[in-house]
Amino acid sequence: MAASATTGSAVAVFNSAGLSLKKLANFRDVSSPSLVKFPDSFKLQLRSARSFSSGIRAEASTIENIGSEAARNVESPVVVVTGASRGIGKAIALALGKSGCKVLVNYARSSKEAEEVCKEIEASGGQALTFGGDVSKEADVESMIKTAIDAWGTIDVMINNAGVTRDTLLMRMKKSQWQEVIDLNLTGVFLCTQAAAKVMMKRRKGRIINISSVVGLVGNVGQANYSAAKAGVIGFTKTVAKEYSSRNITVNAVAPGFIASDMTSKLGADFEKKILEAIPLGRYGQPEEVAGLVKFLALNPAAAYITGQVLSIDGGVAM
Ligand SMILES: NC(=O)c1ccc[n+]([C@@H]2O[C@H](COP(=O)([O-])OP(=O)(O)OC[C@H]3O[C@@H](n4cnc5c(N)ncnc54)[C@H](OP(=O)(O)O)[C@@H]3O)[C@@H](O)[C@H]2O)c1
Repeated sequence: MAASATTGSAVAVFNSAGLSLKKLANFRDVSSPSLVKFPDSFKLQLRSARSFSSGIRAEASTIENIGSEAARNVESPVVVVTGASRGIGKAIALALGKSGCKVLVNYARSSKEAEEVCKEIEASGGQALTFGGDVSKEADVESMIKTAIDAWGTIDVMINNAGVTRDTLLMRMKKSQWQEVIDLNLTGVFLCTQAAAKVMMKRRKGRIINISSVVGLVGNVGQANYSAAKAGVIGFTKTVAKEYSSRNITVNAVAPGFIASDMTSKLGADFEKKILEAIPLGRYGQPEEVAGLVKFLALNPAAAYITGQVLSIDGGVAM
């Protein structure tokens, strides 16, 4: 297990670089979701609704006061990304780190790659630290969450991305192949979500994003273990979204289709040809495209009202 913290303040970097209004709005929401700045058109709608409901009146007056308060509350959101040394997790960590978040980059074995991700975030003015640990193990998850808290005091966004495949037809699938995939892809999501939600609950804010898969929606030959785990993540996401909605914690799943990564590079040429034929957009997705959607769910004020959803990003495979 390795952990290394870095120094520097994303806020200071932004100030010196001239923080754009767009970026300010992005951060405002996660660091203080109750201080969301709504677009002017939305403010107007709320104002005109005042006479109809005292509840709305109270909400509108809160919204009108947020401008100056929010400006004082600009903090870099703390994000934990599991499996961030490679592929989709790496793209997510980079996208959020370069947006000014403090990012814990988790990995299982690839310490060098994880360090590279941190360096790239730091080079862009952000903060990051690596944490080597197996997120299917409770002790490692506890230690990972503690590392983030010790370094940055809280967790605003939890991204459950780490995953493995152990593909084979059901008739040949060993119990160990089943169990390994369930342990990481489903139990790992449970452990990390439970640990992060405990922190978020106290502060009554947070966003949890679980990386599921299109095969959790439609199934796939040779992936009974993987599709069961990914479908489990969807049910889990909806339940946790319901349980934590009153705490202002949103929980959503992202279901990528075939994305170019180490995971998909192992597929043979014949299989790859078949896959491409089944993708309406005729190409693999890129990790950065998934990262863009995750970044929206993690930081954008407009995502504050999205919870319990499964957002597909699959080139049209499941429609
Ligand atoms: N690629 C796709 O087409 C696709 C499609 C749908 C969904 N997904 C999902 O997207 C996520 C990322 O996939 P990917 O394609 O980017 O995978 P990848 O390139 O194989 O990367 C997997 C990441 O998970 C980490 N990891 C593996 N075992 C771990 C463990 N026990 N504890 C902590 N981290 C662990 C790896 O760390 P090390 O480098 O240290 O091994 C690596 O950072 C997965 O949940 C996957 O199921 C992928």
